[in-house]
Amino acid sequence: MRIAMIGGGYVGLVSGACFATLGATVVIVEADQHRFNALRDGRLPIYEPGLAELVSAHRAAGRLRVVNAINEAVDGVDAVFLAVGTPSRRGDGHADLSYVFDAVEQLAGVLRGPTILVTKSTVPVGTGARIATMMASLRPDLAIEVASNPEFLREGSAIEDFMNPDRVVIGTNGPRAQAHLGALYQPLTAQGVRTLFTDLETAELIKYASNSFLALKISFINEMADLCEKLGADVTQLACGMGLDHRIGPKFLRAGPGFGGSCFPKDTQALARIAQDAGAPTRLVETVVAVNETRKAAMTGRIISACGGSVRGRRIAVLGLTFKPDTDDMRDAPAIGIIHRLVDEGAIITAYDPMGMDHARFQLPARVNFCPTARTALNGVDAAVFVTEWAEFRTIDPDALRETMRGRVVVDLRNIFDPATMATAGIIYHGIGRKLCAATNRSDQPSQRLPVEQVYARSLSII
Ligand code: UGA
Repeated sequence: MRIAMIGGGYVGLVSGACFATLGATVVIVEADQHRFNALRDGRLPIYEPGLAELVSAHRAAGRLRVVNAINEAVDGVDAVFLAVGTPSRRGDGHADLSYVFDAVEQLAGVLRGPTILVTKSTVPVGTGARIATMMASLRPDLAIEVASNPEFLREGSAIEDFMNPDRVVIGTNGPRAQAHLGALYQPLTAQGVRTLFTDLETAELIKYASNSFLALKISFINEMADLCEKLGADVTQLACGMGLDHRIGPKFLRAGPGFGGSCFPKDTQALARIAQDAGAPTRLVETVVAVNETRKAAMTGRIISACGGSVRGRRIAVLGLTFKPDTDDMRDAPAIGIIHRLVDEGAIITAYDPMGMDHARFQLPARVNFCPTARTALNGVDAAVFVTEWAEFRTIDPDALRETMRGRVVVDLRNIFDPATMATAGIIYHGIGRKLCAATNRSDQPSQRLPVEQVYARSLSII
Protein backbone atom coordinates (compact mmCIF):
# COMPACT_ATOMS: atom_id res chain seq x y z
CA MET A 1 0.00 0.00 0.00
CA ARG A 2 1.26 3.49 -0.82
CA ILE A 3 0.56 6.31 1.60
CA ALA A 4 1.40 9.98 2.00
CA MET A 5 1.81 11.49 5.44
CA ILE A 6 1.26 15.25 5.59
CA GLY A 7 3.39 16.56 8.46
CA GLY A 8 6.86 15.38 9.48
CA GLY A 9 6.45 16.25 13.16
CA TYR A 10 6.19 13.85 16.02
CA VAL A 11 3.04 12.00 14.94
CA GLY A 12 3.87 12.02 11.22
CA LEU A 13 7.41 10.71 11.64
CA VAL A 14 6.54 7.97 14.12
CA SER A 15 3.44 6.86 12.19
CA GLY A 16 5.19 7.11 8.80
CA ALA A 17 8.17 5.06 9.95
CA CYS A 18 5.94 2.47 11.65
CA PHE A 19 3.64 2.14 8.61
CA ALA A 20 6.79 1.44 6.60
CA THR A 21 7.61 -1.30 9.12
CA LEU A 22 4.13 -2.71 8.53
CA GLY A 23 4.96 -2.95 4.83
CA ALA A 24 3.63 0.30 3.33
CA THR A 25 5.58 2.61 1.02
CA VAL A 26 5.49 6.01 2.68
CA VAL A 27 6.14 9.60 1.58
CA ILE A 28 6.29 12.18 4.35
CA VAL A 29 5.61 15.81 3.45
CA GLU A 30 7.29 18.40 5.66
CA ALA A 31 6.52 21.91 4.44
CA ASP A 32 8.63 23.77 6.99
CA GLN A 33 11.92 24.36 5.17
CA HIS A 34 14.06 24.21 8.29
CA ARG A 35 12.58 20.90 9.43
CA PHE A 36 12.65 19.53 5.89
CA ASN A 37 16.36 20.37 5.53
CA ALA A 38 17.08 18.59 8.80
CA LEU A 39 15.14 15.50 7.72
CA ARG A 40 16.72 15.49 4.27
CA ASP A 41 20.14 15.52 5.92
CA GLY A 42 19.19 12.61 8.15
CA ARG A 43 18.63 14.64 11.32
CA LEU A 44 15.35 14.33 13.21
CA PRO A 45 13.82 17.54 14.57
CA ILE A 46 12.68 15.65 17.70
CA TYR A 47 14.15 13.10 20.06
CA GLU A 48 12.28 9.82 20.35
CA PRO A 49 14.07 6.62 21.34
CA GLY A 50 14.68 4.37 18.31
CA LEU A 51 13.08 6.72 15.78
CA ALA A 52 16.24 8.03 14.08
CA GLU A 53 17.42 4.46 13.46
CA LEU A 54 14.01 3.35 12.14
CA VAL A 55 13.64 6.34 9.79
CA SER A 56 17.13 5.92 8.43
CA ALA A 57 16.71 2.16 7.89
CA HIS A 58 13.45 2.66 5.96
CA ARG A 59 14.92 5.48 3.89
CA ALA A 60 17.92 3.37 3.01
CA ALA A 61 15.59 0.54 1.96
CA GLY A 62 13.49 2.93 -0.18
CA ARG A 63 10.34 2.41 1.89
CA LEU A 64 10.27 5.97 3.21
CA ARG A 65 10.85 9.28 1.45
CA VAL A 66 10.68 12.84 2.73
CA VAL A 67 9.59 15.67 0.42
CA ASN A 68 8.58 19.26 1.08
CA ALA A 69 5.60 19.77 -1.20
CA ILE A 70 2.28 17.95 -1.25
CA ASN A 71 2.26 17.64 -5.05
CA GLU A 72 5.44 15.56 -4.88
CA ALA A 73 3.79 13.02 -2.60
CA VAL A 74 0.35 12.16 -3.84
CA ASP A 75 0.89 10.45 -7.19
CA GLY A 76 -0.54 6.95 -7.03
CA VAL A 77 -1.12 6.92 -3.27
CA ASP A 78 -4.04 4.94 -1.80
CA ALA A 79 -4.36 7.06 1.31
CA VAL A 80 -3.24 10.45 2.56
CA PHE A 81 -2.81 10.84 6.33
CA LEU A 82 -3.07 14.29 7.89
CA ALA A 83 -0.59 14.56 10.75
CA VAL A 84 -0.22 18.32 10.98
CA GLY A 85 -0.27 20.27 14.25
CA THR A 86 -3.54 21.22 15.94
CA PRO A 87 -2.32 23.56 18.71
CA SER A 88 -4.67 25.25 21.19
CA ARG A 89 -6.06 28.39 19.59
CA ARG A 90 -5.02 31.45 21.54
CA GLY A 91 -7.62 32.73 23.93
CA ASP A 92 -10.39 30.15 23.67
CA GLY A 93 -8.85 26.70 24.10
CA HIS A 94 -10.29 25.41 20.81
CA ALA A 95 -7.98 23.36 18.61
CA ASP A 96 -6.53 25.50 15.80
CA LEU A 97 -7.40 23.68 12.57
CA SER A 98 -5.80 26.06 10.12
CA TYR A 99 -2.98 23.61 9.26
CA VAL A 100 -5.51 20.83 8.66
CA PHE A 101 -7.70 22.86 6.30
CA ASP A 102 -4.68 24.35 4.50
CA ALA A 103 -3.52 20.82 3.77
CA VAL A 104 -6.99 19.77 2.58
CA GLU A 105 -7.15 22.74 0.20
CA GLN A 106 -3.74 21.92 -1.21
CA LEU A 107 -4.75 18.27 -1.63
CA ALA A 108 -7.88 19.32 -3.48
CA GLY A 109 -5.62 21.08 -5.97
CA VAL A 110 -3.36 18.10 -6.68
CA LEU A 111 -5.23 14.81 -6.17
CA ARG A 112 -5.85 12.96 -9.42
CA GLY A 113 -7.80 9.87 -8.45
CA PRO A 114 -10.02 8.38 -5.77
CA THR A 115 -8.20 8.70 -2.46
CA ILE A 116 -8.79 8.11 1.23
CA LEU A 117 -8.10 11.08 3.50
CA VAL A 118 -7.31 10.06 7.05
CA THR A 119 -6.93 12.33 10.06
CA LYS A 120 -4.15 11.21 12.42
CA SER A 121 -3.92 14.57 14.13
CA THR A 122 -6.23 15.03 17.11
CA VAL A 123 -9.13 16.99 15.62
CA PRO A 124 -12.40 18.17 17.16
CA VAL A 125 -15.46 16.06 16.58
CA GLY A 126 -17.01 17.02 13.26
CA THR A 127 -13.71 17.83 11.52
CA GLY A 128 -13.79 14.69 9.38
CA ALA A 129 -17.28 15.57 8.20
CA ARG A 130 -16.12 19.13 7.37
CA ILE A 131 -13.20 17.74 5.37
CA ALA A 132 -15.60 15.50 3.44
CA THR A 133 -17.88 18.46 2.65
CA MET A 134 -14.91 20.60 1.61
CA MET A 135 -13.54 17.94 -0.73
CA ALA A 136 -16.98 17.26 -2.20
CA SER A 137 -17.32 20.92 -3.10
CA LEU A 138 -13.73 21.49 -4.26
CA ARG A 139 -13.35 18.24 -6.17
CA PRO A 140 -16.79 16.82 -7.01
CA ASP A 141 -15.10 14.77 -9.74
CA LEU A 142 -13.17 12.63 -7.27
CA ALA A 143 -14.44 9.82 -5.05
CA ILE A 144 -12.84 10.83 -1.76
CA GLU A 145 -13.56 8.92 1.45
CA VAL A 146 -12.64 10.40 4.80
CA ALA A 147 -11.57 8.46 7.90
CA SER A 148 -10.36 9.16 11.41
CA ASN A 149 -7.53 7.00 12.73
CA PRO A 150 -6.42 8.61 16.01
CA GLU A 151 -3.00 7.87 17.46
CA PHE A 152 -2.38 6.75 21.02
CA LEU A 153 1.38 7.25 21.15
CA ARG A 154 3.18 8.31 24.29
CA GLU A 155 6.32 10.36 23.79
CA GLY A 156 9.28 8.28 24.86
CA SER A 157 7.65 4.96 23.94
CA ALA A 158 5.91 5.89 20.70
CA ILE A 159 7.33 3.12 18.50
CA GLU A 160 6.46 0.46 21.04
CA ASP A 161 2.96 1.99 21.40
CA PHE A 162 2.48 1.97 17.63
CA MET A 163 3.67 -1.59 17.10
CA ASN A 164 1.92 -3.04 20.17
CA PRO A 165 -1.21 -0.93 20.60
CA ASP A 166 -4.06 -1.72 22.98
CA ARG A 167 -6.36 -1.04 20.02
CA VAL A 168 -6.58 0.48 16.57
CA VAL A 169 -9.52 2.81 16.00
CA ILE A 170 -10.80 3.40 12.46
CA GLY A 171 -13.73 5.73 12.06
CA THR A 172 -15.28 5.97 8.61
CA ASN A 173 -18.46 5.38 6.69
CA GLY A 174 -16.57 4.61 3.48
CA PRO A 175 -16.26 0.96 2.48
CA ARG A 176 -13.02 1.57 0.55
CA ALA A 177 -11.48 3.37 3.52
CA GLN A 178 -12.47 0.51 5.81
CA ALA A 179 -10.93 -2.07 3.51
CA HIS A 180 -7.68 -0.15 2.89
CA LEU A 181 -7.09 0.85 6.49
CA GLY A 182 -7.97 -2.64 7.67
CA ALA A 183 -5.35 -3.99 5.23
CA LEU A 184 -2.76 -1.43 6.34
CA TYR A 185 -3.03 -2.59 9.96
CA GLN A 186 -3.37 -6.27 9.05
CA PRO A 187 0.12 -7.22 10.36
CA LEU A 188 -0.99 -5.96 13.79
CA THR A 189 -4.44 -7.53 13.72
CA ALA A 190 -2.78 -10.81 12.71
CA GLN A 191 -0.97 -10.64 16.05
CA GLY A 192 -4.23 -10.22 17.94
CA VAL A 193 -4.49 -6.41 18.13
CA ARG A 194 -8.14 -5.43 18.25
CA THR A 195 -9.46 -2.99 15.66
CA LEU A 196 -12.57 -0.99 16.35
CA PHE A 197 -14.42 0.12 13.21
CA THR A 198 -16.76 2.96 13.99
CA ASP A 199 -18.08 6.21 12.52
CA LEU A 200 -16.00 9.35 12.08
CA GLU A 201 -17.46 11.28 15.00
CA THR A 202 -17.06 8.45 17.49
CA ALA A 203 -13.44 7.85 16.47
CA GLU A 204 -12.66 11.55 16.88
CA LEU A 205 -14.29 11.59 20.29
CA ILE A 206 -12.52 8.39 21.44
CA LYS A 207 -9.21 10.22 21.23
CA TYR A 208 -10.32 13.20 23.34
CA ALA A 209 -12.18 11.04 25.81
CA SER A 210 -9.20 8.69 26.26
CA ASN A 211 -6.72 11.51 26.91
CA SER A 212 -9.16 13.32 29.20
CA PHE A 213 -9.88 10.17 31.18
CA LEU A 214 -6.15 9.53 31.69
CA ALA A 215 -5.70 13.17 32.72
CA LEU A 216 -8.58 12.76 35.15
CA LYS A 217 -6.90 9.70 36.66
CA ILE A 218 -3.73 11.73 37.21
CA SER A 219 -5.60 14.65 38.76
CA PHE A 220 -7.47 12.24 41.01
CA ILE A 221 -4.29 10.64 42.35
CA ASN A 222 -2.71 14.09 42.76
CA GLU A 223 -5.61 15.14 44.96
CA MET A 224 -5.31 11.87 46.87
CA ALA A 225 -1.62 12.68 47.39
CA ASP A 226 -2.53 15.96 49.08
CA LEU A 227 -5.03 14.11 51.23
CA CYS A 228 -2.43 11.46 52.11
CA GLU A 229 -0.12 14.19 53.37
CA LYS A 230 -2.83 15.51 55.67
CA LEU A 231 -3.85 12.07 56.92
CA GLY A 232 -0.42 10.47 57.26
CA ALA A 233 -1.01 7.94 54.45
CA ASP A 234 1.26 7.02 51.53
CA VAL A 235 0.06 7.73 47.99
CA THR A 236 2.34 5.18 46.30
CA GLN A 237 0.82 2.40 48.39
CA LEU A 238 -2.64 3.87 47.94
CA ALA A 239 -2.17 3.79 44.13
CA CYS A 240 -0.93 0.22 44.35
CA GLY A 241 -3.91 -0.81 46.46
CA MET A 242 -6.32 0.87 44.07
CA GLY A 243 -4.58 -0.32 40.93
CA LEU A 244 -4.76 -3.98 41.90
CA ASP A 245 -8.48 -3.73 41.23
CA HIS A 246 -8.71 -4.67 37.54
CA ARG A 247 -11.57 -2.27 37.08
CA ILE A 248 -9.25 0.59 38.03
CA GLY A 249 -5.82 -0.63 36.81
CA PRO A 250 -2.41 0.51 38.04
CA LYS A 251 -1.44 2.86 35.21
CA PHE A 252 -1.57 6.66 35.31
CA LEU A 253 -1.80 6.68 39.09
CA ARG A 254 1.63 8.20 39.71
CA ALA A 255 1.21 11.38 41.72
CA GLY A 256 3.36 14.28 40.60
CA PRO A 257 3.54 18.00 39.82
CA GLY A 258 0.60 17.92 37.40
CA PHE A 259 0.42 16.67 33.84
CA GLY A 260 2.12 18.54 30.99
CA GLY A 261 3.12 17.89 27.40
CA SER A 262 1.61 18.68 24.07
CA CYS A 263 -1.49 16.53 24.51
CA PHE A 264 -3.27 16.35 27.87
CA PRO A 265 -3.38 20.11 28.60
CA LYS A 266 -4.48 20.89 25.02
CA ASP A 267 -6.93 18.01 24.63
CA THR A 268 -8.69 18.43 27.99
CA GLN A 269 -9.22 22.11 27.20
CA ALA A 270 -10.44 21.32 23.70
CA LEU A 271 -12.87 18.65 24.91
CA ALA A 272 -14.28 21.02 27.51
CA ARG A 273 -14.85 23.59 24.72
CA ILE A 274 -16.33 21.04 22.31
CA ALA A 275 -18.76 19.91 25.00
CA GLN A 276 -19.75 23.48 25.93
CA ASP A 277 -20.40 24.28 22.29
CA ALA A 278 -22.46 21.11 21.93
CA GLY A 279 -24.58 22.14 24.92
CA ALA A 280 -23.44 19.18 27.04
CA PRO A 281 -20.75 20.67 29.30
CA THR A 282 -18.32 18.17 30.81
CA ARG A 283 -17.96 19.49 34.33
CA LEU A 284 -15.47 16.76 35.22
CA VAL A 285 -13.12 17.64 32.36
CA GLU A 286 -13.44 21.36 33.12
CA THR A 287 -12.48 20.60 36.70
CA VAL A 288 -9.49 18.50 35.60
CA VAL A 289 -8.20 21.47 33.58
CA ALA A 290 -8.56 23.80 36.58
CA VAL A 291 -7.20 21.31 39.14
CA ASN A 292 -4.11 20.69 37.02
CA GLU A 293 -3.36 24.40 36.58
CA THR A 294 -3.70 24.95 40.32
CA ARG A 295 -1.47 21.98 41.03
CA LYS A 296 1.33 23.10 38.75
CA ALA A 297 1.22 26.56 40.31
CA ALA A 298 1.23 25.11 43.84
CA MET A 299 4.51 23.24 43.34
CA THR A 300 6.67 26.33 43.85
CA GLY A 301 4.96 27.00 47.18
CA ARG A 302 5.88 23.48 48.24
CA ILE A 303 9.52 24.06 47.37
CA ILE A 304 9.59 27.42 49.13
CA SER A 305 8.08 25.97 52.29
CA ALA A 306 10.53 23.01 52.17
CA CYS A 307 13.27 25.64 52.08
CA GLY A 308 11.95 27.23 55.28
CA GLY A 309 9.62 29.87 53.82
CA SER A 310 11.97 31.78 51.55
CA VAL A 311 14.29 30.97 48.66
CA ARG A 312 15.83 34.41 48.37
CA GLY A 313 19.55 33.97 47.76
CA ARG A 314 19.22 30.17 48.03
CA ARG A 315 20.98 27.99 45.51
CA ILE A 316 18.56 25.42 44.13
CA ALA A 317 19.24 22.63 41.64
CA VAL A 318 16.32 21.66 39.40
CA LEU A 319 16.76 18.21 37.89
CA GLY A 320 14.54 17.09 35.04
CA LEU A 321 13.05 19.84 32.85
CA THR A 322 11.06 18.04 30.16
CA PHE A 323 7.39 17.23 30.77
CA LYS A 324 8.28 13.54 31.16
CA PRO A 325 11.38 11.37 30.73
CA ASP A 326 12.74 10.05 27.40
CA THR A 327 11.77 13.09 25.40
CA ASP A 328 13.27 16.50 24.70
CA ASP A 329 9.79 18.06 24.69
CA MET A 330 9.34 21.08 26.97
CA ARG A 331 5.75 21.88 25.98
CA ASP A 332 3.69 22.68 29.07
CA ALA A 333 6.39 21.15 31.26
CA PRO A 334 5.76 21.78 34.98
CA ALA A 335 9.45 22.76 35.38
CA ILE A 336 8.89 25.97 33.36
CA GLY A 337 6.45 27.58 35.80
CA ILE A 338 8.36 26.28 38.81
CA ILE A 339 11.68 27.76 37.69
CA HIS A 340 10.21 31.11 36.64
CA ARG A 341 8.60 31.55 40.04
CA LEU A 342 11.66 30.42 41.96
CA VAL A 343 13.75 32.95 40.06
CA ASP A 344 11.13 35.65 40.74
CA GLU A 345 11.37 34.76 44.43
CA GLY A 346 15.13 35.34 44.34
CA ALA A 347 16.47 31.77 44.05
CA ILE A 348 19.72 31.04 42.19
CA ILE A 349 18.97 28.12 39.88
CA THR A 350 21.20 25.46 38.42
CA ALA A 351 19.42 23.09 36.05
CA TYR A 352 20.06 19.81 34.33
CA ASP A 353 18.10 17.58 31.97
CA PRO A 354 19.48 14.65 29.97
CA MET A 355 17.77 15.62 26.68
CA GLY A 356 15.73 18.79 27.09
CA MET A 357 18.24 21.56 27.72
CA ASP A 358 18.42 22.89 24.15
CA HIS A 359 14.67 23.51 24.15
CA ALA A 360 14.60 24.56 27.82
CA ARG A 361 17.00 27.45 27.23
CA PHE A 362 14.35 29.25 25.17
CA GLN A 363 11.67 28.88 27.84
CA LEU A 364 13.57 29.59 31.04
CA PRO A 365 15.03 32.80 32.46
CA ALA A 366 18.48 33.76 31.16
CA ARG A 367 19.80 33.65 34.73
CA VAL A 368 19.40 29.87 34.97
CA ASN A 369 22.76 28.12 34.96
CA PHE A 370 22.45 25.01 32.74
CA CYS A 371 24.87 22.30 33.82
CA PRO A 372 26.31 19.43 31.79
CA THR A 373 25.60 16.75 34.42
CA ALA A 374 23.32 16.18 37.41
CA ARG A 375 26.33 16.24 39.63
CA THR A 376 27.53 19.68 38.54
CA ALA A 377 24.01 21.04 38.98
CA LEU A 378 23.89 19.65 42.52
CA ASN A 379 27.30 20.89 43.53
CA GLY A 380 27.08 23.19 46.55
CA VAL A 381 23.31 23.82 46.38
CA ASP A 382 21.04 24.42 49.38
CA ALA A 383 18.20 22.36 47.95
CA ALA A 384 17.56 19.94 45.08
CA VAL A 385 14.24 19.62 43.28
CA PHE A 386 13.49 16.61 41.06
CA VAL A 387 10.76 17.50 38.56
CA THR A 388 11.05 14.69 35.96
CA GLU A 389 11.76 11.04 36.73
CA TRP A 390 14.62 10.34 34.31
CA ALA A 391 16.05 6.84 34.87
CA GLU A 392 19.51 8.17 35.60
CA PHE A 393 18.24 10.04 38.66
CA ARG A 394 17.13 6.75 40.20
CA THR A 395 20.76 5.67 40.36
CA ILE A 396 21.85 8.70 42.39
CA ASP A 397 23.36 7.54 45.64
CA PRO A 398 21.74 9.41 48.57
CA ASP A 399 25.06 9.68 50.45
CA ALA A 400 26.74 11.19 47.40
CA LEU A 401 23.79 13.53 46.94
CA ARG A 402 24.05 14.68 50.55
CA GLU A 403 27.77 15.28 50.27
CA THR A 404 27.62 17.12 46.97
CA MET A 405 24.98 19.53 48.17
CA ARG A 406 25.67 22.24 50.69
CA GLY A 407 22.21 21.97 52.25
CA ARG A 408 20.09 18.91 52.95
CA VAL A 409 16.68 19.66 51.45
CA VAL A 410 15.48 17.43 48.61
CA VAL A 411 12.05 17.97 47.06
CA ASP A 412 11.12 14.96 44.93
CA LEU A 413 8.03 15.83 42.89
CA ARG A 414 7.98 12.36 41.24
CA ASN A 415 8.59 10.08 44.23
CA ILE A 416 11.80 8.79 42.66
CA PHE A 417 13.49 8.03 45.97
CA ASP A 418 12.67 5.99 49.05
CA PRO A 419 11.95 8.40 51.93
CA ALA A 420 13.52 6.18 54.60
CA THR A 421 16.78 5.73 52.63
CA MET A 422 17.00 9.46 52.06
CA ALA A 423 16.39 10.15 55.76
CA THR A 424 19.09 7.65 56.72
CA ALA A 425 21.50 9.55 54.46
CA GLY A 426 20.71 12.69 56.46
CA ILE A 427 18.53 14.28 53.81
CA ILE A 428 15.44 16.29 54.65
CA TYR A 429 13.25 14.63 52.07
CA HIS A 430 9.92 15.89 50.76
CA GLY A 431 8.12 13.52 48.41
CA ILE A 432 4.57 13.77 47.08
CA GLY A 433 1.81 12.29 49.23
CA ARG A 434 4.20 10.51 51.56
CA LYS A 435 5.10 10.71 55.23
CA LEU A 436 8.03 12.86 56.19
CA CYS A 437 10.86 10.76 57.69
CA ALA A 438 13.06 12.53 60.22
CA ALA A 439 16.52 12.97 58.72
CA THR A 440 19.34 11.34 60.65
CA ASN A 441 21.92 13.84 61.83
CA ARG A 442 25.06 12.39 60.27
CA SER A 443 27.45 15.15 61.30
CA ASP A 444 28.69 13.29 64.41
CA GLN A 445 29.07 9.94 62.69
CA PRO A 446 32.48 8.90 61.41
CA SER A 447 32.42 8.84 57.64
CA GLN A 448 32.84 5.39 56.10
CA ARG A 449 32.09 6.76 52.69
CA LEU A 450 34.03 6.76 49.50
CA PRO A 451 35.21 10.13 48.28
CA VAL A 452 32.25 11.76 46.62
CA GLU A 453 33.80 11.65 43.14
CA GLN A 454 34.09 7.90 43.33
CA VAL A 455 30.60 7.39 44.67
CA TYR A 456 29.22 9.45 41.83
CA ALA A 457 31.30 7.68 39.28
CA ARG A 458 29.79 4.45 40.53
CA SER A 459 26.21 5.61 40.83
CA LEU A 460 25.74 8.02 37.97
CA SER A 461 26.28 6.53 34.57
CA ILE A 462 26.52 10.00 33.09
CA ILE A 463 29.84 10.75 34.75
C1 UGA B 1 -0.45 11.10 25.92
C2 UGA B 1 -1.23 9.78 25.94
O1 UGA B 1 -0.72 8.94 26.98
C3 UGA B 1 -1.11 9.05 24.60
O2 UGA B 1 -1.92 7.88 24.61
C4 UGA B 1 -1.61 9.99 23.50
O3 UGA B 1 -1.49 9.41 22.21
C5 UGA B 1 -0.77 11.25 23.51
O4 UGA B 1 -0.91 11.89 24.80
C6 UGA B 1 -1.28 12.16 22.41
O5 UGA B 1 -2.42 12.62 22.49
O6 UGA B 1 -0.60 12.28 21.38
P1 UGA B 1 2.12 11.82 26.26
O7 UGA B 1 1.59 13.21 26.39
O8 UGA B 1 3.26 11.57 25.35
O9 UGA B 1 0.94 10.81 25.78
O10 UGA B 1 2.62 11.34 27.68
P2 UGA B 1 1.99 10.60 28.95
O11 UGA B 1 2.88 9.47 29.29
O12 UGA B 1 0.57 10.30 28.76
O13 UGA B 1 2.17 11.72 30.07
C7 UGA B 1 1.45 12.95 30.04
C8 UGA B 1 1.69 13.73 31.30
O14 UGA B 1 1.08 13.08 32.42
C9 UGA B 1 3.18 13.88 31.67
O15 UGA B 1 3.41 15.17 32.16
C10 UGA B 1 3.38 12.85 32.77
O16 UGA B 1 4.42 13.15 33.65
C11 UGA B 1 2.03 12.90 33.47
N1 UGA B 1 1.73 11.66 34.22
C12 UGA B 1 1.50 10.50 33.55
C13 UGA B 1 1.61 11.71 35.59
O17 UGA B 1 1.78 12.78 36.23
N2 UGA B 1 1.28 10.56 36.27
C14 UGA B 1 1.06 9.38 35.62
O18 UGA B 1 0.77 8.38 36.31
C15 UGA B 1 1.19 9.36 34.24
